[in-house]
Amino acid sequence: MQYILKPIYHRFKVEEFASQDFFDHRGTLLLGKGQKVTSSLASFLNRQTIYSLHCECDFPSSVSGELHASLLIHFPRTAPWLQRVYFETALIKQELLSEAVRFIDQLVDHLSLHPAFSLDFEQLQTSDKVTYKHSVNVALLSYIIGKSMNYKGEKLRRLTLSALIHDIGKLDIPEEILNKPGALSSEEFEIIRTHPAKGVARSADLLLPESVLTAILQHHERWNGSGYPQGLAGLDISTSAQIMAVADVFDALITDRPYHAPLPPYHALEILFKGCGTDFSPEVLKALFCMIQLYPPDSFVTLNSGEAGIVLRFTYPNLTQPKIQVLFDPFGNPVEKELIIDLAEDPSRYICTMHHRVG
Ligand SMILES: [Fe+2]
Repeated sequence: MQYILKPIYHRFKVEEFASQDFFDHRGTLLLGKGQKVTSSLASFLNRQTIYSLHCECDFPSSVSGELHASLLIHFPRTAPWLQRVYFETALIKQELLSEAVRFIDQLVDHLSLHPAFSLDFEQLQTSDKVTYKHSVNVALLSYIIGKSMNYKGEKLRRLTLSALIHDIGKLDIPEEILNKPGALSSEEFEIIRTHPAKGVARSADLLLPESVLTAILQHHERWNGSGYPQGLAGLDISTSAQIMAVADVFDALITDRPYHAPLPPYHALEILFKGCGTDFSPEVLKALFCMIQLYPPDSFVTLNSGEAGIVLRFTYPNLTQPKIQVLFDPFGNPVEKELIIDLAEDPSRYICTMHHRVG
């Protein structure tokens, strides 16, 4: 026996008391049994599909579960390593996600036939799964940013290949340093900083294009010159390396590492955005934001103040500061009167969590 959510078709009326618990499609409780429906709640609930809980024998998979399962079947080399957040958050459109996974899967398939390269790649897959998973995800995001910047054909392939092997030099870094919980000593950090050059040295026999080697070497450079190993700045950094820097940091932030807990993807994007023009190329960040859905209208969010509500709209460059219609106060009580907060004009409030997307 399983509990499942089933859509119900009910028009909620103001002042009505809920006859049972009502949920969204992810199972988030929207209206508890016996709770009175306010006018703002009624308009919120009547704009989306509402579910109630039923007991049944068969448990259908969710939409994101179906997508994940289908990618696993069709692209076994890549899909199992992808971050689950890409399936769960709808951050990237489903068609684009499938296209990127297919592209990387074919690339991995092709590389595995290369006698010299396959040894390194297999070692990466078996000895350092964290780095391998990270590499697949950096390749995914780099591909998506590249598409947004009109990369095509061989140029797009080289960018994705560079991203896929950008950390291959970590095979030459001792594991106790690579996966050390807590802060690194300055000596250990100096060893870590050698991995881009070590990656290039490892790739020397593979007859890779110069642009790929350059991107591997420069993926830790920063837009303002504060990166390593060469301290390059601005357009002196190859565009592919600028793209990989953004993808690399984003994936590191949303991943559970020995030295930090994973951040929600929308927090990671806010951190990237704060580094616009200092750490990261503004053009690359704009290309990334063009391809993702950060807080789509009707997303349900909780603010640091404890209030919760739905996203009304946002405008570039205030992608992380949309207008919010507050539905619940910090104590979870429904808000009776219409309350709209413009986060761009209220620096004391910001989005903490996004519970789901509706509609
Ligand atoms: Fe790296």
